[in-house]
Amino acid sequence: MTYQVILPAAGQGKRMGAGKNKLLLELDGVPVLIHTLKVFERDDACEGVILAINPQDKGEFLRLFKQYNIKKVINISLGGPERQYSIFNALKTVTTNGIILVHDAARPFIKIEQIHRLVKQANVSGAAVIGVPAKDTMKTVKAGWVAATVDRSSLWAVQTPQAFRMSLLWEAYEKAERDQFLGTDDASLVERLNHPIAMVEGDYENIKLTTPEDLYIAEAILKKRQKEK
Ligand code: CTP
Ligand code: MG
Repeated sequence: MTYQVILPAAGQGKRMGAGKNKLLLELDGVPVLIHTLKVFERDDACEGVILAINPQDKGEFLRLFKQYNIKKVINISLGGPERQYSIFNALKTVTTNGIILVHDAARPFIKIEQIHRLVKQANVSGAAVIGVPAKDTMKTVKAGWVAATVDRSSLWAVQTPQAFRMSLLWEAYEKAERDQFLGTDDASLVERLNHPIAMVEGDYENIKLTTPEDLYIAEAILKKRQKEK
């Protein structure tokens, strides 16, 4: 039940507004990128990490890998102007024919137990994503006016990791390139092949650090986990 994982890490962190890649911001004194990498370093089922990065971050990232004894990065590929392009570049370097995961480097709180449930499901169905049921009531809005209330029972917020058979993900990315389709996650590319994708229930702690408030929430999650240890 092994896998390789692509970690897209080549964003600009514009919404975080830190003036640098948000993955270099520290939580409890350790950069976000390292928190995320450490999860995969600890997971024996992870056979290797492929990172998509910006050239300007490379020196700093390599220095951090040494400092924090990161050993599983098997490849570093060039980031693109959109997340999808960063991942496509990384996919071109993948050597496994088995299960490949894509996980946002900006989600440091993923648990190994959840990764394993996801990989197990992807082994069966070829494609699986992790997510949580929507908590808020959702409405569609047109030009400032409520148009309708959406039935919440069928709405899930999707997270990463997302797991796929390598051949399937490759086919999905090639088709997206041919059709010039740009999706906001990897599963949306696979959906275009009409291939079924399983939803694996995760938890609400697996947040993506996106805006400055997320940093306070992240510190609270870390503190809670340290207490649990
Ligand atoms: N990412 C990437 N290449 C891009 C854009 C994003 O590898 N061209 C990565 C980010 O580094 C992050 C993940 O994809 O780990 C999710 O993206 P997001 O949260 O949007 O991060 P940023 O793009 O950095 O943030 P923003 O959109 O606010 O600029
Ligand atoms: Mg972005």
